[in-house]
Amino acid sequence: GKYRVISTKPMPGTRWINLLIEQDCRVEICTQKKTILSVEDIIALIGDKCDGVIGQLTEDWGDTLFSALSKAGGKAFSNMAVGYNNVDVNAATKYGVAVGNTPGVLTETTAELAASLSLAAARRIVEADEFMRAGLYDGWLPHLFVGNLLKGQTVGVIGAGRIGSAYARMMVEGFKMNLIYYDLYQSTRLEKFVTGMYGSLSYGQFLKASGEQPVTWKRASSMEEVLREADVISLHPILDKTTYHLVNKDSLAVMKKEAILVNCSRGPVIDEVALVEHLKQNPMFRVGLDVFEDEPYMKPGLSEMKNAIVVPHIASASKWTREGMATLAALNVLGKVKGYPVWSDPNRVDLFLDENSPPPA
Ligand code: GLV
Ligand code: GLV
Repeated sequence: GKYRVISTKPMPGTRWINLLIEQDCRVEICTQKKTILSVEDIIALIGDKCDGVIGQLTEDWGDTLFSALSKAGGKAFSNMAVGYNNVDVNAATKYGVAVGNTPGVLTETTAELAASLSLAAARRIVEADEFMRAGLYDGWLPHLFVGNLLKGQTVGVIGAGRIGSAYARMMVEGFKMNLIYYDLYQSTRLEKFVTGMYGSLSYGQFLKASGEQPVTWKRASSMEEVLREADVISLHPILDKTTYHLVNKDSLAVMKKEAILVNCSRGPVIDEVALVEHLKQNPMFRVGLDVFEDEPYMKPGLSEMKNAIVVPHIASASKWTREGMATLAALNVLGKVKGYPVWSDPNRVDLFLDENSPPPA
């Protein structure tokens, strides 16, 4: 191959590798045992000549790495993730390296995990499973693992992009929940669904016409409004300076005592120490977490909380999605290395599959 492309991890499927090989690339895959590669590890991988890198969200892609990649002749970097808080896009631009991410293919998979965590928290599935396995079940009881009925309750979505909108739709349509969402931008994608999917009827009118309790929806004017009113709240913002510790001691205090909070975005969106304290003080408050402030660690006390469900950052982990992410990441790098016109704007991320999302500010 004429071009040297590195993947810092083995990735699912073979399509991504074949795409690169068929187009003059020599693909090198790092098989180091350690899970999180350091900046030094990656500099060693890049070496003297490297045209493009596919990297992971666990890696710190800042000035040092983009400088090294640029010196090696590299033109492209793709995160195998939709989130790119681990990538300093300005540094990449400074060194002439284009950056890509992998939106679109993980929308439904991620929303489905958020829905799973919402249901698991509402119905106390994990606690109940532990109870069974511990041999504690000695007969049906009216009070055993009583949880929340979602139907008729309000789901709150903070960040109504692709994933937040897909999740909202699942919860509204699937479980007949009322919706309140907060986003800096009006979500046309979400409002189209709630206002007019059923011919000329809104989903609420459609339910009413079928003799069901209609659902309601609104865009909140503040995040606090969502925190105050919703029974289940799912977080779907990007992580940046403005969303760091978006959920903190004060925002937790505003939420209902029996609310459910779900996070499949990025850990630092929640002040995890404040959350542990809140879980201790409010045993009826439940949380479903896919992401953590200092991955792979959890803040002290979190793992002992019965009212917390914790899973290891697996929201995008379906076979179809992970192969799709690998393929998109490879296309991102290939497109730039081969000079395809899609890369004409080096600042543009969110390149594929979603022309409607605004470029990052
Ligand atoms: C996963 O967390 C992603 O951003 O794709
Ligand atoms: C954000 O990137 C989203 O897909 O919602």
